[in-house]
Amino acid sequence: MFGPLVAGSFPQTRLRRNRRDSWSRRLVAENVLTTADLIWPVFVTEGSGQHVPVPSMPGVVRYSLDTLVEAVGEARDLDIPAVALFPSVAAELKTPDAREAVNPDNLVCRAVRALKKAYPDLGVVCDVALDPFNSDGHDGLVVDDYVVNDESVDVLCRQALVQAQAGCDVIAPSDMMDGRIKAIRKTLDDAGLIHVQIMSYAAKYASAFYGPFRDALGSNVALKGGNKKTYQMDPANSDEALREVAMDLQEGADMVMVKPGMPYLDIVRRVRETFAVPTFAYQVSGEYAMLKAAINNGWLDNDKVMMESLMAFKRAGADGVLTYFAVEAAKLLKRG
Ligand code: PBG
Repeated sequence: MFGPLVAGSFPQTRLRRNRRDSWSRRLVAENVLTTADLIWPVFVTEGSGQHVPVPSMPGVVRYSLDTLVEAVGEARDLDIPAVALFPSVAAELKTPDAREAVNPDNLVCRAVRALKKAYPDLGVVCDVALDPFNSDGHDGLVVDDYVVNDESVDVLCRQALVQAQAGCDVIAPSDMMDGRIKAIRKTLDDAGLIHVQIMSYAAKYASAFYGPFRDALGSNVALKGGNKKTYQMDPANSDEALREVAMDLQEGADMVMVKPGMPYLDIVRRVRETFAVPTFAYQVSGEYAMLKAAINNGWLDNDKVMMESLMAFKRAGADGVLTYFAVEAAKLLKRG
């Protein structure tokens, strides 16, 4: 990219000159991280007064609706623009047809209503996928040991509709079925919900980094050692991610996401450069768990690795990051 003249040569050029002082380092910084870059994923459970720890995610808890409203209030006061909701559904409500997913009074819909009532100006993002409600632990319906596509899309549309009708601002399909963005957009539009945004988990990989999240939702137990390789992407692939993103954009996605985050920053960069559309990355549960485990062993510095990991997403070209560190990071950013 640069010729030797432009790059300069030593000793006229000393790249360390700009790095010597803090004011100068700040002046030449190419990227900044602000609280406006953060989306906070939160786990919701039944009951009241609950703060149920997720053992594989130190510092992360499942909230009941009352404590959720309180905790999200703190996030909002820190200027975090949006939260993403994930319901931890009682095992007895999980069925092979995931019918609880389309119940307008299910846990996640009640959480949306409670949050939008308390904080109308806060962005609320809802995941669209059947795994929290499915006794098979899969994101779609299982027929003869295969996650079927088109039948799953029908249910996902109904799930998106009840969530949007409950008042959520952003529908975030994380299921990786083919054609779901188009079908969901049509369902929302037909219901007059034209302002509800779609953030597509467009390039979502079949990753082992989701382990702690599945603990938090109990979907690991339901999945019984199975995997999601017939619908989530192969970690070996990169060009295929561009096709996924292209199709989702064509089908009406407003924003796209790459997931997991840090091991897939090359994909974030390619998506950003190829499409120049709002691009998000999800620093997933396993990435958080990995960092926290080392931090809690005294092997890594919490604040420094947290901020460095988040800055890496900005540098790769992400507009924002879904991160379990959101509140901690926002506090640190506020302190300056
Ligand atoms: C479910 C879903 C998953 C995550 C977000 N939505 C897990 C999965 O696909 O099995 C992972 C989030 C994380 O690991 O933090 N469709």
